[in-house]
Amino acid sequence: MHIRVLGSAAGGGFPQWNCNCANCQGLRAGTVKARARTQSSIAVSANGQDWLLVNASPDVLQQVREHPPLQPARAVRDSGIAAVLLMDAQIDHVTGLLMLRERSTPLPLLATPEVLSDIGNALPLTRVLSHYCGVAEHPLPLDGRAIEPPGVPGLQVVAVALDSQPPPYSPFRGRPRPGDNIGLLLKNPQSGAQVFYAPGLGALTPALRALMAGCHTVLVDGTFWTEDEMIRLGLSKKRAAEMGHLPQSGPGGMLSELSRLPASVRKVLIHINNTNPILIEDSPERAELVRHGVEVAHDGMVIHF
Ligand code: MLT
Ligand code: MN
Ligand code: ZN
Repeated sequence: MHIRVLGSAAGGGFPQWNCNCANCQGLRAGTVKARARTQSSIAVSANGQDWLLVNASPDVLQQVREHPPLQPARAVRDSGIAAVLLMDAQIDHVTGLLMLRERSTPLPLLATPEVLSDIGNALPLTRVLSHYCGVAEHPLPLDGRAIEPPGVPGLQVVAVALDSQPPPYSPFRGRPRPGDNIGLLLKNPQSGAQVFYAPGLGALTPALRALMAGCHTVLVDGTFWTEDEMIRLGLSKKRAAEMGHLPQSGPGGMLSELSRLPASVRKVLIHINNTNPILIEDSPERAELVRHGVEVAHDGMVIHF
């Protein structure tokens, strides 16, 4: 089973088109040790040919070009993307659906009823797509049941409701429901190994900690280093918590959460915002991650499990 990290940045990517923070400016100028990153997405496959695309990033076309296994070329029109699963209805996770419209059959789309409702109404992507390829909706249950995504043999997934926030455009912003935002347990039924993926994770619960402790790898929210990162840089008025992201540093932060997991669990941060100092490979914050045995995902990273 392998995971390819297609996009390891949060919304906006790195560098962000209109951003001149120290990271974005430094990357453009070549004065910092860092790599560019596209917006949030992974692909998962057991056989290397048929892939579950987890999140449809606005950068999906670039990601397909940069990852040849996603184009196995078995026919004149073909794609290795057999199905798409959405973790939430955020712009950085759903707008790439519009780029997949040239299919000749409906796109299999796995998401919770809450997410399907947001992208059918407030941001009516699936209604628009119905005039192109259309989508075949597969509502994701939140009862712990394992699902086999259509067209992706040998992979099982379990959706887990998380404490986070629906997107700013959702009528449910500020009054989140279970299903607005999920974590995903990716299971290899052959080996029994599992990976927990959660690019938007606002808070951990005892049940979640237990689930993560039993994983081969956890690939979790690396959006912000501090709770007030965007405010201090004068870029936004929003705190990390309001956006549904647990920052890495400080008491109760993601680093202290990850330190509680067994040493055998591989710990990787993903969905990194362009303001986050961990993007700079020789920063003190990155050194602190290394001391804790925590990795930072990059586009092109492959995880076998
Ligand atoms: C988030 O997860 O908060 C997003 O990256 C926001 C966005 O896509 O604008
Ligand atoms: Mn995001
Ligand atoms: Zn920036």
